[in-house]
Amino acid sequence: MCGIVGYVGKKQAAPILLDGLSRLEYRGYDSAGMAVYDGEKIVINKTTGRLKVLSELTHDGATMSGHIGIGHTRWATHGEPSDVNAHPHFNKDQSIAVVQNGIIENYLKLRNLLQDRGYQFLSETDTEVVVHLLDYYYNRYDKNPLTAVTKVIHRVEGSYALGILFADHPDVMYAVRKDAPLIVGIGEEGNLIASDVPAVLKYTRDVFFIENEEIAVLTEKSIEFFNMDADPIRKESKHIDWDINAAEKGGYEHFMLKEIYEQPKAVRDTISPRIRDHSIVIEELGMTDEEIRAVKKIHIAACGSAYHTGVTSKYVFEGLARIPVEVDLASEFRYRDPILEEGALVIVISQSGETADSLAALRLAKDRGITTLGIVNVVGSSIAREADKVMYTWAGPEIAVATTKAYSCQLVAQYLLALKFAQVRGQITDEQLGEYLHEMEILPNQIESLIDNKHKIQKFANRYVAAKDVFFIGRGIDYAISLEGSLKLKEISYIHSEAYAAGELKHGTISLIEDGTLVAAVVTQEELYKKTISNIVEVRSRGAYVLAVTNEDNIEIEKTADCVIYIPKTSSYFTNSLAIIPLQIFGYYVSVGKGLDVDKPRNLAKSVTVE
Ligand code: M6R
Repeated sequence: MCGIVGYVGKKQAAPILLDGLSRLEYRGYDSAGMAVYDGEKIVINKTTGRLKVLSELTHDGATMSGHIGIGHTRWATHGEPSDVNAHPHFNKDQSIAVVQNGIIENYLKLRNLLQDRGYQFLSETDTEVVVHLLDYYYNRYDKNPLTAVTKVIHRVEGSYALGILFADHPDVMYAVRKDAPLIVGIGEEGNLIASDVPAVLKYTRDVFFIENEEIAVLTEKSIEFFNMDADPIRKESKHIDWDINAAEKGGYEHFMLKEIYEQPKAVRDTISPRIRDHSIVIEELGMTDEEIRAVKKIHIAACGSAYHTGVTSKYVFEGLARIPVEVDLASEFRYRDPILEEGALVIVISQSGETADSLAALRLAKDRGITTLGIVNVVGSSIAREADKVMYTWAGPEIAVATTKAYSCQLVAQYLLALKFAQVRGQITDEQLGEYLHEMEILPNQIESLIDNKHKIQKFANRYVAAKDVFFIGRGIDYAISLEGSLKLKEISYIHSEAYAAGELKHGTISLIEDGTLVAAVVTQEELYKKTISNIVEVRSRGAYVLAVTNEDNIEIEKTADCVIYIPKTSSYFTNSLAIIPLQIFGYYVSVGKGLDVDKPRNLAKSVTVE
């Protein structure tokens, strides 16, 4: 995790670094720092706390004069959040400064070696070995920065993205990455590096994506690339279409609320271009009908909310296309030696396209010769680039740590894929496909109506800001919805919550129900209504207060539940897209009611690029 940014050009660097870091704060926010060359030497300012503390410390960058600099916002891995552990880090004579995002796995071994050679460490970070190692090779190899960088990347193991300044070369910035994201922005009045595109959008839409173990060397007027043997390489730049407003709050109190409101558009953008003349066309996918028919089994690997969409997808793919589906948390998949046989398709779902475990799951499948498909939001991200096939979710930039619109787009992308597979494999008729597509096309309006009618769930949320435990229950797809509803609540409100397959209650969990415990029951699968309603009766008779989320025709439930939120009618396969909306809104308003930092919950970061 962590965000890094760098600038070299005509303008003052520090304000540009602060602005870029503000767009990367979702990657980590326990400390922040900047290094700027002031004409004579490199000056570092760094501090524990949010970026605003660094802005105050440097008077919005005004106290740091200079035209070249690197900045960092940290999510601590090695060493607690503290001023000394904050980045950038200096070598001993303060002539080299480094910011890093990632983990240097062999840092202890390198630290011991460097200490034996007389290097003294000030921090507990793994990054400090990089700056001392640079110092060592720089002085050993004729003070050549490029040679020093290549030597370092031959020695360090793990995942990293680095921004580097050398005081002896005050017009040049160096950057390199391996398994952690890094892009180069081509500006008119200078060039930039950043962990993610939104950090440079204000200055440019033209970027280079740096590949593993490639080195970028930037000056005000030039950008050159080298491989790890210092041979020059040519790269093509990419144009980014995102609008900068998409990465701003636009009048909403929080990014999460803005992104909840953006769901109808995001879902429409993901669905509409793929429905043509009553059939499904996923242009970028590049899978022939022959390839689709050859799939014998699907494995889905993902993390967090993306994993929850995979759990839903199992029901949808198996129900519609009759293909067996196994769903794994990517962190489990990568270490459980999965049985991947000929005819398997491994689908990896990820908003960021950079999640370390998801990327590792993808690579494992590729190493075994299995076809991989990435369902990804960030264009040009590692998973998008490395997967054999890719399908984009068109959610636009998602900033709040708690995912909403990307989750909704992942769901509909998988419905489209399942319908495509079902049609090609002859499991549904053209008429059935037409009906399903019609249901999908009206989903955005239905989502919109749920958001517009948020007041009931908002009021309900205000009553539960002091809850200690909340349980979410459901069966089938309703269980998958419960998993996400529970995560949405706990990650931003810090209220303990659990999701259970409703049939499991009697096998242990029901003993936790006390007078007043809130149970959110998701009841959208018609054939399972009666079963879940019996579970509602059971928890109520033990004192639970039950909030039910159900279909608009299930008014019978009012006899059993204490509070009911209705969702509009849709296919039973698509109910997740609607039922999740009130649960997102519930989590959001509980967090707001508790006065918490909704967009940046404690201990979390938006993209988890380390294990
Ligand atoms: O970028 P990814 O979709 O791969 O991220 C996966 C999870 O880290 C992510 O969904 C996480 O669980 C969300 N913050 C939950 O809201």
